Amino acid sequence: MNSLFDISKEIIVLTGVNGILGNEYANYLLMQNATVIGVDLNKNEKSLYLLEKYRSNFRFFECDITCSSSLSSTILRIVNEIGVPTVLINNAAIDSPPSSTIEENGPFEDYPESSWDKVMNVNLKGAFLCCQCFGREMVKNKKGTIINISSIYGMVSPDQTLYEYRRKNGEDFYKPVAYSVSKSGILNLTRYLANYWGDKGISVNTLTLAGVYNNQDESFLKEYKSRIPIGRMAQATDYFGALHFLCSDSSNYMTGANMVIDGGWTSK
Ligand SMILES: NC(=O)c1ccc[n+]([C@@H]2O[C@H](COP(=O)([O-])OP(=O)(O)OC[C@H]3O[C@@H](n4cnc5c(N)ncnc54)[C@H](O)[C@@H]3O)[C@@H](O)[C@H]2O)c1
Repeated sequence: MNSLFDISKEIIVLTGVNGILGNEYANYLLMQNATVIGVDLNKNEKSLYLLEKYRSNFRFFECDITCSSSLSSTILRIVNEIGVPTVLINNAAIDSPPSSTIEENGPFEDYPESSWDKVMNVNLKGAFLCCQCFGREMVKNKKGTIINISSIYGMVSPDQTLYEYRRKNGEDFYKPVAYSVSKSGILNLTRYLANYWGDKGISVNTLTLAGVYNNQDESFLKEYKSRIPIGRMAQATDYFGALHFLCSDSSNYMTGANMVIDGGWTSK
């Protein structure tokens, strides 16, 4: 392995490891011989599989990223049992799936305050607390990389015309506001910390993604594909190279940036 891309010495904390992308990232990074510390609310069959497959390189910690005491006890155990993490991937987040309640996916005027709080709590406060908790240890170690995951909907507004087909079918459906606003907050959390920790050996970057194929219905896929220059939704594998680069020494001179892997969505 070219040493610029060797990540076998990295200790990578990955939040949301049980999710669609988190699980794929973990598998990929483990195949590159990195040590991966998966963090999620509870163990599930995906994390149990990784624990079985990668006995020496994968560890799992139950932790709620919105709770500073849960994070404090987690970092203490990680440092004592494994070492100071060298990479943090802030991947955990929540969104309102298309199957959520009518209020959650309805008009902006009726969007529930409780949904706003829930999304902001995980997507923004959770990312902030993880940066604070893991970043503090990285600063002491004078080395660290933080990768904050954002979305095309954090750079541009959701395209509500994409969901017109649902409204034509009688649903009062709009892509809700909170996810989009939380993901744009990630961009400036990154810039703030890149400046704050710039001379402390810590780099902080955003990785912005477009939608991933996950058996969405045909009408959605047709509308989505017609709007994205590359003509298809992403696969998790489309993001591995960027993630690898950001975890490795190849990205040493990069901080405060937004790496956009979006099939061209935001180029229009
Ligand atoms: N899937 C996509 O199409 C897509 C597109 C653009 C960006 N993204 C971003 O990629 C990231 C991963 O997306 P995904 O589709 O894999 O999501 P997902 O919903 O499949 O997984 C998210 C994971 O985060 C965990 N989580 C939620 N709240 C938590 C908490 N309080 N503490 C700890 N863990 C918690 C969940 O249990 C889950 O395992 C997210 O940041 C998302 O915004 C995804």
